[in-house]
Amino acid sequence: MAENFKLDLAHRPRRVRRTASLRAMVEETVLRPADFIAPLFVVEGRSPPDEIKSMPGVYRLNLVDLVKECLALHKLGVPAVALFPKLDPKLKDDEGTHALNEDTLVLRAVRAVKKAVPALTVITDVALDPYTTHGHDGVLTAARDDVDNDRTVGILARMAVLQARAGVDLVAPSDMMDGRVGGIRRALDGAGFTGTGILAYSAKYNSAYYGPFRDAVGSAQAAGTRLLSKATYQMNPANRREAITEALLDEAEGADMLMVKPAGLYLDIIRDLREATRKPIAAYQISGEYAQIHAAARLGWLDLARCRHESLLAIKRAGADVILTYFARDMATALRT
Ligand code: PBG
Repeated sequence: MAENFKLDLAHRPRRVRRTASLRAMVEETVLRPADFIAPLFVVEGRSPPDEIKSMPGVYRLNLVDLVKECLALHKLGVPAVALFPKLDPKLKDDEGTHALNEDTLVLRAVRAVKKAVPALTVITDVALDPYTTHGHDGVLTAARDDVDNDRTVGILARMAVLQARAGVDLVAPSDMMDGRVGGIRRALDGAGFTGTGILAYSAKYNSAYYGPFRDAVGSAQAAGTRLLSKATYQMNPANRREAITEALLDEAEGADMLMVKPAGLYLDIIRDLREATRKPIAAYQISGEYAQIHAAARLGWLDLARCRHESLLAIKRAGADVILTYFARDMATALRT
């Protein structure tokens, strides 16, 4: 008797889904351009924008094009950019010496962007991977079987001071060395940069999804060497409690914002951190997350615009206050129209 089957229900949750206006009223999470930070890759020279093969729509930009892109992002309401240099391999060595060069590419990029778009928040990575021949985020021990934690922190602290001097708003240690947030905070304060903030990559996992980024900055070598993987410093994807330990340490050492990376596969971690601290939480939708949506869209298997939106909505819903994403410009554009 299917046709006269009647349920006596007090609660019918579908009532508020019946029309578009009802659905809009009860919507719990809304994305806006101010939710995004755009990661940008910068190169030396004057060559035209160079598209990264595994990241459609993402380019390595020279300084002039970088400034143009920053102006466009600012106009679209994107509040911040995170700059990543791709260094000439000739400038790399075992110790990442060039990271402490006072005129290194990323510092010139910061000065140029801050001069052209002072209202845009500029963030720089504090890690040695763009500068080392082996591609690790730190310098190696004498035995070359691990990164030298404390010596690396000493270098990163000096690097952060150079970045602060160039005018950066937030330094973002992405290296996962122990004690680096405290080391950087002390160095910044000691040099008079009490107003420069720290966006700590607190729960950064040893993810296979960083592949396209490592191609973009040319640090791929370390990922697969027998010598050493990043597993001795980046977190094991199997671990959840450890993320809280990392985040609370960074907070205690003076971090202003705490990051989870990758984002989409680690929504539980974003939620855990949201509940463990009152600090703002950032999440990084990384290169591999971006690449897989584009790849499936190219095959005609997924709808690019809808998956882009849903992937970011999920990250915000999980508890992220701000999201680093290669979709920043496209999202800001789509949200305006
Ligand atoms: C390294 C760094 C990585 C990313 C940002 N900073 C990768 C790595 O650990 O090798 C990855 C970002 C992405 O995949 O989009 N300091």
